[in-house]
Amino acid sequence: MVSLKTAAENLKNGNLVAFPTETVYGLGADASNALAVSKIFKVKNRPIDHPLIVHIFSSKQLSDWAIDIPEFALKLAKDFWPGPMTLIFKSSPLAKDFITGGQSTIGLRVPRHPIALELLKEFLALGGLGIAAPSANRFGKVSPTSAQAVHEELDQYLSSNDLVLDGGNSEVGIESTIIDCTNPAPRVLRPGAISESMIKESTGLALLTNGKEIRVSGNLESHYAPVAQVLLDIEPVKGDGYIALNQYQTPTGVIRLAEPRNHLEFAQTLYSALRQADQLHLTRIVVKQPEGDELAMAICDRLKKASSK
Ligand code: TXA
Ligand code: MG
Repeated sequence: MVSLKTAAENLKNGNLVAFPTETVYGLGADASNALAVSKIFKVKNRPIDHPLIVHIFSSKQLSDWAIDIPEFALKLAKDFWPGPMTLIFKSSPLAKDFITGGQSTIGLRVPRHPIALELLKEFLALGGLGIAAPSANRFGKVSPTSAQAVHEELDQYLSSNDLVLDGGNSEVGIESTIIDCTNPAPRVLRPGAISESMIKESTGLALLTNGKEIRVSGNLESHYAPVAQVLLDIEPVKGDGYIALNQYQTPTGVIRLAEPRNHLEFAQTLYSALRQADQLHLTRIVVKQPEGDELAMAICDRLKKASSK
């Protein structure tokens, strides 16, 4: 693998670098370079009005990109960054329309994967202000949780100057919790590993549950979807793929795609299992949904979208 300094230079030169984060792999570009960012949209086939998360090395860079940062957000940043959490603020003039999708807000995240952090550090050392990175999949598809998955998903669309960094399997496996910080109290826009009770405990505030509409593509009805049809909580039949906790047996003739021992493993293996079903050209994937805790709810949020076609 190339050095992370070389990868950072590559970003600074306007090329794309896909990199591992603890949630899922991101497809990165220099967030200050309109041409570089436009490549993300082309490679992903993503609608141009969908905003991108800007990844930064530390919360010291918050005020580069955001204005009106409330006290509770600083507390969240202190408690959960680096980590699987994205905060939404009113944007500073640095956040151009090609990042925000023309909205007046900006999403920011400090990831904790060591390769992501080192890349951000090298990029900062070159004068880079932030790395814009959506998940490294084609629009509406399953997010990649390994370098191999990024290659399979995007190789045919990347150009020879673009890079894919390999940091192993993503530890969390589902995308970051997105928290709207533009109101007097936090509001969760996309559930994830940083749960509502963690947010409440950190900020001491009751969460908002509604408010003005913000565009989050993960909120489109169909998203995170493999080619195979995803069916929830039915009995799998011969030829079906099956994802369920390992306490559930595999009926005869059913192809077991994942048998996680707990919800952490469920989140970790879900996307690779969905991808595997497509590689095996299965037509149906049956998933027995996890239940009982907040991570299960975040997993079910993704499953609902993966299953609505
Ligand atoms: O875990 C993650 O968040 C991964 C890794 C790579 O960091 N990134 C990710 O990015 O999932 P993406 O683009 O696939 O999903 C980010 C979501 C999108 O639904 C987008 O609409 C929303 O965040 N978003 C980004 N900026 C926003 C903003 N300013 N206001 C509202 N939503 C925003
Ligand atoms: Mg995505």
